[in-house]
Amino acid sequence: MPYHETGRVAMMRRSGLLCLLVALVWAGAVSHAVLAQAPAGDGPRYVNGTSLVRPEDYRAWPFLGSGLGLTYDAETAAPSTPPAFSNVFVNPSAYRAFLQTGTWPDGTVLLLEFRRSLTGTRPNTTGRFQGELTLLEAEVKDARFPGGWAYFTFGRPGAMLDAAPPIGGEEVERCIECHTEHTAVERTFVQFYPTLLEVARARGTVKPGF
Ligand code: HEC
Repeated sequence: MPYHETGRVAMMRRSGLLCLLVALVWAGAVSHAVLAQAPAGDGPRYVNGTSLVRPEDYRAWPFLGSGLGLTYDAETAAPSTPPAFSNVFVNPSAYRAFLQTGTWPDGTVLLLEFRRSLTGTRPNTTGRFQGELTLLEAEVKDARFPGGWAYFTFGRPGAMLDAAPPIGGEEVERCIECHTEHTAVERTFVQFYPTLLEVARARGTVKPGF
């Protein structure tokens, strides 16, 4: 075997190794760049700065409570309309912070869904259970917005937005007014979330006027 043949093999091996090294470093840099773009944690994700991206997995988030007939238009709703269920979920990191402090951290995302209430099936024909989704709304604690909170509506199934702009104008004034005057903790209806109400009482964070 001529000497320079083996030398060439060795050189090919070496350049192969070099390619592999370069590829590894490059892959590392790319995955780092991808990770850097991913949002930190489970807080709000926005497009165009302030449009809230609808969290796909909110149904796997901590569940705070559900109301039956706690709709906003109680006085105007027809008495014959079956009362709707409302379910409230919050992002896990904000939930953990609330358990520690009794207050919501910046980056809290609360989701409110309305579902039809149904009745008349076996075994208990007078009992009520939840049916299909009718509306999805959100509230986010984010210091960039006036008063530190923003309100969003994703709308109804069939025409559900993937990202919702913050509600503005007179419409948001209504959200803010009710969520300021009638809420037990900050802008939230903790009085309807029994386990959190205990936490807020223990931490002394229930609003004085409540
Ligand atoms: C007339 C009063 C009233 C108005 C106006 C109102 N809400 Fe609410 N909101 C409530 C009540 C009551 C609950 C508790 C529902 C439950 O526990 O099922 C609630 C709960 C919520 C929650 C769950 C987190 C929390 O704050 O406890 C979100 C999100 C929400 N509302 C969004 C909105 C948005 C967005 C608007 C404006 C478009 C709005 N709300 C306007 C009364 C109101």
